Amino acid sequence: MIKKAVIPAAGYGTRFLPITKSLPKELLPIIDHPTIEFIVNEAIDSGITDILLIVSSNKNAIIDYFDYNLELETILLSKNKYEEYGIIRNIAQGANIHYIRQREQLGLGHAVLQAEAFVGNDPFAVLLGDDMYVGKGKPAIRQMIDAYNEVESSVLGTIEVDYKDTSRYGICIPKGEKKGKLVELKGVVEKPKVEEAPSRSAIGGRYVLTPTIFSYLKNQEKGAGNEIQLTDAILRLMGEEKVYSYDIEGKRYDVGNKIDYIEAILDFGLEKEELRENLQKLINKKSK
Ligand code: G1P
Repeated sequence: MIKKAVIPAAGYGTRFLPITKSLPKELLPIIDHPTIEFIVNEAIDSGITDILLIVSSNKNAIIDYFDYNLELETILLSKNKYEEYGIIRNIAQGANIHYIRQREQLGLGHAVLQAEAFVGNDPFAVLLGDDMYVGKGKPAIRQMIDAYNEVESSVLGTIEVDYKDTSRYGICIPKGEKKGKLVELKGVVEKPKVEEAPSRSAIGGRYVLTPTIFSYLKNQEKGAGNEIQLTDAILRLMGEEKVYSYDIEGKRYDVGNKIDYIEAILDFGLEKEELRENLQKLINKKSK
C-alpha cells in the first residue's frame, strides 16, 4: 500500500521572478487556491495519508497555508461567514502534512533524499509542483500507484513532448518496443541535447519509487545544471531493480511556464459556476 508522498517545494522559482522573491512559487494562485493545494489534493484523492513537503528557508507561507488560522476563523465566525470558514478549515483535511527543510538547494535528487527518514522501508510517491494534472478519470498519481501495484517496481509518470522540448525534461529509453502505457525502461537521461534525445517520452513530474533509491541518492554526483539529479539516481537504480514508465492520462499544465499557468487559470475559471459566463464573454471579447 502506498500511503506516503513527497512534494519538493524548495526551489527558487526563478522563472516567476520578481514575484517569487517574496512569494513561494508554490503559492502562485489559480484564482483563489495556490497551485500546491492542487498537488496535495491529487495525493489525498489517490489514497495518500501522509505528505512530506520539502521546503526551504523562505517558504514559511506554505506552512501557514496548510495550518489552521484560529484568529481568522474566529473573525469569520463572529461575522457569520460560515461558508468562508468552511473553506479555510477544510484545506488539506484528508492527510497529515509534514515538513522538512532542505538546507541548501543542491537539486531535485538532494531534495528527495531529505525524505529518507519519513519514507522508511515502503515505496512512496513523488509529485512535483510545476506539473498539474486534471482529468475526469483517476488522478495522475493514483494511475501510477495502480501501475506500481501491477509491476511492484518503480514507475516514472511520462508524457509525450515535442522533440524540440526534450532538453527540458528527463527522457526515458524503453527496453523493448513500446506497447501499451506501462513499459520497462533500459535508461533515462536528464535534459539531453535535443539532437541526442533518445525518445519523446518525458518524465512528467510524477514518480512512484522504491526506497532503494535512497542508497543511490546518497552518493549521487552532480549532473545536468550542476545539480544532484533524481533522474541520474534512477538510472543507477536500474542496475539493481526494474524501472517502468507509465503514460499518464489527463491534461497537464506546466505551471512553471507562464502560458500554461494562464491557461490553467482560464480553465479553472471556466469550471467555476460563478465565473463561467462572464469569463467566457471576456475571452470572446479579447479574441476578436
Ligand atoms: C524535473 C526533473 C525532470 C522532469 C521535470 C518535469 O526537472 O528533473 O526529469 O522531466 O521535472 O517537470 P525541472 O523541471 O525541475 O528542471
